[in-house]
Amino acid sequence: MPDFPNETENHMDLLSDPTLLRQHCQKWHSQGLSVALVPTMGFLHAGHTSLLDHARTRADKLVLSIFVNPTQFGPNEDLDRYPRDLPRDLELARAHGVDLAFTPEPQAMYQPDHATWVDVPELGQGLCGASRPGHFRGVCTVVTKLFGLVRPDVAVFGQKDWQQLAILRRMTRDLDLGVDIVGRPIFREADGLALSSRNVYLTPEERAQAPAIHEGLALVQGAVRAGERDVERLGLMFRAHLAEKLTGASVDYADFVHPVAMSPVACVEAPTLFAVAVFLSRVRLIDNILLEV
Ligand code: PAJ
Repeated sequence: MPDFPNETENHMDLLSDPTLLRQHCQKWHSQGLSVALVPTMGFLHAGHTSLLDHARTRADKLVLSIFVNPTQFGPNEDLDRYPRDLPRDLELARAHGVDLAFTPEPQAMYQPDHATWVDVPELGQGLCGASRPGHFRGVCTVVTKLFGLVRPDVAVFGQKDWQQLAILRRMTRDLDLGVDIVGRPIFREADGLALSSRNVYLTPEERAQAPAIHEGLALVQGAVRAGERDVERLGLMFRAHLAEKLTGASVDYADFVHPVAMSPVACVEAPTLFAVAVFLSRVRLIDNILLEV
């Protein structure tokens, strides 16, 4: 028995040159084949592969990009120590039916005099945009470049990065990029912790306590179901839960926003996104829940 479902049958191309990627995808398009794209920064986990598995069902050809995009990291962020394991990523990619893995070097993606940026400032003011200035500009720019190279019919993203997904949807619509943007649910560990490449930074103690974040989200959802509408009180409830369960954690933000406009709401009267970012010592974890009334 093969370890992976597609191990015996799947051929995967591996390219790091953007021009070759473009030619490869152009060939598929000229043959009338549809193409799905899953952009990632690698160090793949089950959250990523859940996107691949869905994308696999959405088009004839599946492209995975693995690129730790320098322009979306701030000067004091973890670009240099972002976890990487390309051999393992490629094995997983093959097992999940990827036809082409694209793994460019930064110099191949950005010319020394790169000067063009894509930004959706209105949706990037709060949440991660406030804590990470320039982050979404880097994300939008690299995703636009990947869309230009691959010309995907469909691109699949995770709801774990809800604000990123909302921004990329708006960007794609506003710029008529013609890509069907699909958002997929957050993939969690059995104890509720959202899978993240950054979870490997956690100490065993932090890892043991980290499910408190998801518990806090569920607590807030419970309170909304029970009739609480005031975001101030709901936010305090979340913070109190973390203070009790997570020693040494600090809340970067815990905000209630409109799920499409990303604008703050005062009252949970309609479906509302509750999005949080929490520091466990130096590790910043994000999570969110779409609150139903
Ligand atoms: P990365 O953090 O590698 O995530 C790649 C994709 O996987 C994103 O769409 C993200 O939302 C999704 N993802 C991560 N963890 C997930 C989980 N637990 N469940 C479901 N989906 C999950 O996001 C990026 O890379 C970059 O910003 C990128 C879009 C590739 C641009 O550089």
